[in-house]
Amino acid sequence: MNELKHVGIIVDGNGRWATKRNKSRSEGHLEGSKNLEKLILNISESNIKVLSLYVFSTENFKRDKNEVDYLMNLFTKWFKIINKKYKNKNIKILFSGRKENLDKKIIKEIESLEHETNDNTGLIVNFCLNYGGRAEIVDATKKICSDVINDKININNLDEKIFGEYLYNNLPDLDLLIRTSGEQRISNFMLWQLSYAELFFTNTLFPDFTYEEFANIVNSYMKRDRRFGGTNKN
Ligand code: IPE
Ligand code: IPE
Ligand code: MG
Repeated sequence: MNELKHVGIIVDGNGRWATKRNKSRSEGHLEGSKNLEKLILNISESNIKVLSLYVFSTENFKRDKNEVDYLMNLFTKWFKIINKKYKNKNIKILFSGRKENLDKKIIKEIESLEHETNDNTGLIVNFCLNYGGRAEIVDATKKICSDVINDKININNLDEKIFGEYLYNNLPDLDLLIRTSGEQRISNFMLWQLSYAELFFTNTLFPDFTYEEFANIVNSYMKRDRRFGGTNKN
């Protein structure tokens, strides 16, 4: 059995789910958010420690303004709803991403969620919003350079462990990455953290992705032979 601390999900396929039903892309995002709310609750009852959810990439700002505005409003409202629900479920919320070009309203909800759930000790849910794996590495590098210039760290001591401390959140490496919707690519998600992650791609569009399917993927993950560059111990 493999250890499973950190799972990442690339939440994808909301648009295609809607288009297939002659609905607007917005309706797909709304349905995706409802599904995500349930999925997080189910996962919080498992032994998984950290769940990173890719919900908006730095590149998603390239989309039509109406879609971006809809998504930002949806996140803002949805964060308010889950703030009350998750606090009592012992779920701790974190955010990874660039806050600079996000609207003040969404930042307020993000900070409130982080604050309200700060003392919770159960599942850590890390929302990756306005997140890019390359942006995270660049932002960490800038902070390191600044600390080197200010003599806070000695460049000769810099190693992978210390580098990890400069990322948006210092989380364990990703063990398992799931992407819904059939696309088989990483799309700039957690490039640093997924160096040895096991990858699973499912054709299911996110609004249809159930906890049952998630649990089946976890079972398959348990049987994978993870070697980390070494040789099989058996
Ligand atoms: C994922 O669904 C949600 C976000 C990226 C915000 P998409 O909106 O990418 O859905 P598809 O890929 O167009 O179906
Ligand atoms: C990746 O999905 C980002 C999120 C799921 C938040 P996209 O739908 O933006 O990715 P591409 O464009 O298909 O690579
Ligand atoms: Mg997509």
